[in-house]
Amino acid sequence: MSDVVRVDIQDQVARVEINNPPVNATGQAVRQGLLDAVAQIGQAGAKAAIVYGAGRTFVAGGDISEFGKPPQLPHLPDVYQAIEDSSVPWIAAVHGTTLGGGFELAMACAFRLAQNGTRFGLPEVNLGLVPGAGGSQRLPRLIGVDAAIDLATTGKMIDAAKLQELGGLDGIFEGDPLEAGLAFAADLPARPTKVSARDIAPVDSDYFAQKHAEIKKRAKGQSSPLDNLKAIEWAATLPFAEGQPKERQLHLDLRDSAQSQALRHVFFAERAVTKPKAIEGGTPLEINTICVVGGGLMGAGIAFACLQAGYQVILIERDDDAAQAGQDRIAGLIEGGIKRGKISDEKAVKLRSALSASSDYAASASADLAIEAVFEDLAVKQPVFQSLAAHMRSDAILATNTSYLDPTQIFEGIDNPARFIGLHFFSPAHIMKLLEIVKLPTTSKDVLATGFDLGKRLRKVGVLSGICDGFIGNRILSAYRRQADYLLMDGCTPRQIDRAMRDFGMPMGPYELQDLTGLQIAWANRKRQAATRPADERYVRIGDLLCEAERFGQRSQKGWYQYEEGNRTPQDDPFVTDLIIEEAAQAGVTRRDFTDQEIVDRLMAVMINEGALIVEEGIAERDLDVDLVKIHGYGFPRWRGGPMHYGEQIGMDKVKQAMAEVVAQSPNSWRVAGRLS
Ligand code: COA
Repeated sequence: MSDVVRVDIQDQVARVEINNPPVNATGQAVRQGLLDAVAQIGQAGAKAAIVYGAGRTFVAGGDISEFGKPPQLPHLPDVYQAIEDSSVPWIAAVHGTTLGGGFELAMACAFRLAQNGTRFGLPEVNLGLVPGAGGSQRLPRLIGVDAAIDLATTGKMIDAAKLQELGGLDGIFEGDPLEAGLAFAADLPARPTKVSARDIAPVDSDYFAQKHAEIKKRAKGQSSPLDNLKAIEWAATLPFAEGQPKERQLHLDLRDSAQSQALRHVFFAERAVTKPKAIEGGTPLEINTICVVGGGLMGAGIAFACLQAGYQVILIERDDDAAQAGQDRIAGLIEGGIKRGKISDEKAVKLRSALSASSDYAASASADLAIEAVFEDLAVKQPVFQSLAAHMRSDAILATNTSYLDPTQIFEGIDNPARFIGLHFFSPAHIMKLLEIVKLPTTSKDVLATGFDLGKRLRKVGVLSGICDGFIGNRILSAYRRQADYLLMDGCTPRQIDRAMRDFGMPMGPYELQDLTGLQIAWANRKRQAATRPADERYVRIGDLLCEAERFGQRSQKGWYQYEEGNRTPQDDPFVTDLIIEEAAQAGVTRRDFTDQEIVDRLMAVMINEGALIVEEGIAERDLDVDLVKIHGYGFPRWRGGPMHYGEQIGMDKVKQAMAEVVAQSPNSWRVAGRLS
């Protein structure tokens, strides 16, 4: 008998337990175990079989770690077909997250029961795939084409109640899956038509064309949502016996696609990122109350995120008016959540009562952690920590949200440096997924582990970063912008660069993005860096000149583009084009045309190079940390896997070549990472 699939037949009812931790994925042993079970149960002449999962969940899908390898017998669709065709009716009694191959297994069974709260979904789309064992063919036959498209093209989950409402369940139970299965088997209804043999209600002739247009727009370059749509169209137009092999073939083809490889890389990276070496052996400290200093946009966002995660929050501002304004801002975020249906009235009451605001640092005394989010200036931040240290426990954690300053300087003169940490949030802090967790040389493992624990509770992707100018994300951003400016000088326009990067998959190009977020912060940074900038590094002044002309971006209706009142669409501005040409002429540059591909190659080369330097210097532990920073903080397309994965995918030799061109274009301006030189 298989270790992972245990069969126990009593009173003609077979109990089939899948026990393959952590999530009962359908690896080879599970597939073989299930196939053997079908034969054994059939031979025993059982009257019903109940399949259920041991541990925290029913089957949560295929084993993703097997997807890079050649498929091994028996294949999942054959196993599920055997279950559906078995003379013995199978009952799926599911709980937890019944996803992908797990949902497909349930659909192959004659009956489906779910524990209240069980979540169902076809997340293959998020891995660049279509289901591989009939999911796209059975689901529309079970719950209709519309609902099936909604699930398969987005990967979103629905709960048991919703699935029942859609006609996909035979019952919802509380308590133990096996017990529920046994109770159901004791009074077994007549066996319904197999799901694969059910009819699908016809749709309008232009239905799929319309869906295609809709989904293409939403997919932003990712191809799997459209692949899933196509597979469901097969279900709607072909008999199961024809549609299913087509789905399977597409699934196998997609496993080898660049997009699926990238998305699988991100899946595993998102799990590995939570376990950097630096926290090995560290134990998270208990945090109940968080003091947030600064009630501006950033501070309010952080406070709101902490409230939502269930923490008590004390907001501190410099005077009573500012404290009130900060509290109002947070109240506004709560209101917004209510309006969008994300926060219930009851929850809002709880959130409001967990928040207090004060202008007196004595209020911080009860906090276990303080997060400072005040103006980006050493002279403003240092006194904040002195005041906090004077009132808080000597072991309470002190965190700065600085983006560019050196945290070591910020904490100068404060006791117990093991408790210092950087928690770099991205604006808006209650929405953006990324949290850079910055380790100072003195930070203890327990404090670092607490940072990661906090990130998890806030539902953020916490990435460990060492100290350097801009940490991981903004340091790469600044290299990227610098190279974009060199391209501008040498022949491109903002429009062309923006278009090339959008076509690559970025949500926005570098110039339209600067206009959106404002040009001032980068300007201030360039001024700050001026003293330490190598004298022979190429410097492009165009951004500075725009700021001097008070062109700060959308808010001033002028930046790299110009904007009509109330319209966010960037319009070309001859002022900027002339300025670029003038600056190039002054610098003695002969402008030439660049293809979009050259633009992408060079901008990606500097991103990858900077990422490689960051890893080389030990600022990031691994390439995957860099990838996740760019994906979760800067809109780098997930389906490209992050810059470092993209570099590996196109081949580091190609990146090396592009980097050599970058260096030739602007000599003395780039330090090249070991692996690219
Ligand atoms: N194949 C292989 N490993 C899987 C897996 C799968 N389908 N699903 C989860 N795992 C592994 C994770 O890598 C993780 O391993 P680790 O502890 O070594 O890092 C472990 O199982 C726990 O997963 P995690 O995501 O950390 O737990 P969770 O409770 O937060 O979430 C799920 C559980 C099932 C919701 C989530 O793991 C998930 O969405 N899995 C993918 C489901 C999927 O895409 N299925 C379709 C595959 S075609």
